Amino acid sequence: MLYPVILCGGSGTRLWPLSRRSYPKQFVPLVGEETLFQASAKRLSGSETPGFAAPVVLTASDFRFIVTEQLQAIGIDPGAILIEPEGRNTAPAVLAATLHLHAQDPEAILLVAPSDHVVPDREAFHAAISRGLEAVAEGKLVTFGITPGHAETGYGYLELAARPDGSGGAIDLAQFVEKPDLAAAEQMLAAGNFLWNAGIFLFRAADILAAFRSHAPDLLAPVEAAVGEAEADLGFLRLAPGPWSEARDISLDYAVMERADNLAVVPFDGGWSDLGGWDAVWRAAGPDAAGVVTAGEAVAIDCADTLLRSDSERLEIVGIGLRNVMAIAMNDAVLVADMSRAQDVKQAVSALKAKG
Ligand code: GDD
Ligand code: MG
Repeated sequence: MLYPVILCGGSGTRLWPLSRRSYPKQFVPLVGEETLFQASAKRLSGSETPGFAAPVVLTASDFRFIVTEQLQAIGIDPGAILIEPEGRNTAPAVLAATLHLHAQDPEAILLVAPSDHVVPDREAFHAAISRGLEAVAEGKLVTFGITPGHAETGYGYLELAARPDGSGGAIDLAQFVEKPDLAAAEQMLAAGNFLWNAGIFLFRAADILAAFRSHAPDLLAPVEAAVGEAEADLGFLRLAPGPWSEARDISLDYAVMERADNLAVVPFDGGWSDLGGWDAVWRAAGPDAAGVVTAGEAVAIDCADTLLRSDSERLEIVGIGLRNVMAIAMNDAVLVADMSRAQDVKQAVSALKAKG
């Protein structure tokens, strides 16, 4: 059985002021009417090929009721909602989901997916998963690769071991490089045989368990105990806080993917964005001929390459003669920045925190 595992514990600080610590970006309607989490859950459900079991959701205690409300609103019943007592990053989270599923179905296949991405072409996505399943049957840990557009340092890079043969099938990986520095990212972009890691993974529970045993054995004891001693609570499964706090804080990419030698990638060209900043939201929303996007109570007059968005019922936002500007208004905060500084918005969050 194929089990979607949806990760929604991240905080998304680069999308301040819309994304807040108490209500991060995956739970907000950023593009379109659904939230990113709801769109992810829909993309990962259904009995048509490839055929999904009910999703397992991993999240923080603070978000548990947001998760249940948002799933209920779209009529999806979760298979389980695992609550992490504190954020230990994606490696312990994925291991916990693996142990939970492996105990109930030793043949389980996991499709690990983030909750905060936009994948507009659902059919292409499902076709890519079906192709990935062929490699999974051979014991591969399967990633999904996006043709890189620029020397991004915030992504993982996948080095192809062979040229794509045009079939769209999985290709073995020579190596996985997580978040390179700019010089390395530029080299990989120029080399032409690298894809971006989409952050979506497909593998058999037994194979990823073997990979954890080889590459991150220290995680097994605390996470096994946290799952073994988990408490059922109002439909949630709360991992045991004591052992959980002893699990190393590390991402799956660093803990396992960079070290494993049984990786494969399915190239994916169905459109993908991780909405890693307001510039990516602007791009995903589909700018008009002048490059303008307005959302909510917003008016742009003679602007170009600009995003104006009001999520407040009380604030109208008007821009005149702007170039390369993003302005986002909420009831209690307004962000105005140069579009090229989208990645620096996380500094606003730290600055405000320091100010108290
Ligand atoms: N449950 C849970 N617990 N979820 C988490 C946690 C956690 O402690 N930490 C992060 N997440 C969720 C985030 O909400 C997101 O949906 C997903 O896991 C990935 O985490 P990010 O923190 O967004 O990772 P990243 O963007 O820096 O890097 C990953 O994604 C890139 C593509 O967007 C890596 O896989 C890169 O290699 C990849 O290129
Ligand atoms: Mg991310």
